[in-house]
Amino acid sequence: MRSRDAAARTPIIAGNWKMHKTYAEAVSLTQGIIDRLPKDATRRADVVLCPPFTALRGVSNAIAFDHARIKVGAQDCSAEPEGAYTGQVSVAMIADLDAAYAIVGHSERRGLLGETSADVAAKARALCAAGLTPIVCVGESREVYEAGDTIDFVVDEVAASLAGVRVDADAAGLCVAYEPIWAIGTGLVPSPEHAQRVAAAIRAQVGATCGAQVAERARVLYGGSVKPGNVAAFMVQQDVDGALVGGASLDADTFVRLVLSALGE
Ligand code: PGA
Repeated sequence: MRSRDAAARTPIIAGNWKMHKTYAEAVSLTQGIIDRLPKDATRRADVVLCPPFTALRGVSNAIAFDHARIKVGAQDCSAEPEGAYTGQVSVAMIADLDAAYAIVGHSERRGLLGETSADVAAKARALCAAGLTPIVCVGESREVYEAGDTIDFVVDEVAASLAGVRVDADAAGLCVAYEPIWAIGTGLVPSPEHAQRVAAAIRAQVGATCGAQVAERARVLYGGSVKPGNVAAFMVQQDVDGALVGGASLDADTFVRLVLSALGE
């Protein structure tokens, strides 16, 4: 059972659309989610859609038009405020499109683009300074998992990815997503008990790096092959406050079923 501390944290379900959906497809998916999601669900949880940069405006317009309480996030941002950074997108630019969140340090960016935890920390600092909520991703490889070194690895990654990050505990806050690399897009998941142990260790490290008050309020998400049928088992864990969802966020019916099942319905 989740304790009173855990109950005080608003659950969060974030859909990471990755490099899927053109502008028109993104608007149509958003509309499908708005039409199916009971209003009550967005009072009980933060539901966050993270489309590609090119669709942020369309998604936030569709949400605003319907006065839906769904939130919008980007999948990355630059750590720099502006300048000669071809292809990069600043925090101010995504905030201007009503993004309140940004995923940073996803393992696909760390693995494919060589992003380091120092890069991730710089992005998280820029987001927090602008009043947006970073969703900082961490997670171990299959080798690390099989060697039983997950907690040491993840705790080090959290410390480095939050270096110098100052979170105003009363403002937007902080999210950390635990995403085992071997569980992303594979259909494999760790046991909910494993996710809980890692989430608790993440929260302890957030406390050591950012302070106890931030740690108590920070939301720790589980990500990696989250589906409507398995999300509830993760969500009931004491230190798991949400889910970061890839594949299952690309279809309105599936995503709405997942949100409802995360809320215990
Ligand atoms: P998946 O992706 O749900 O498709 O495994 C999760 C993620 O990469 O955030």
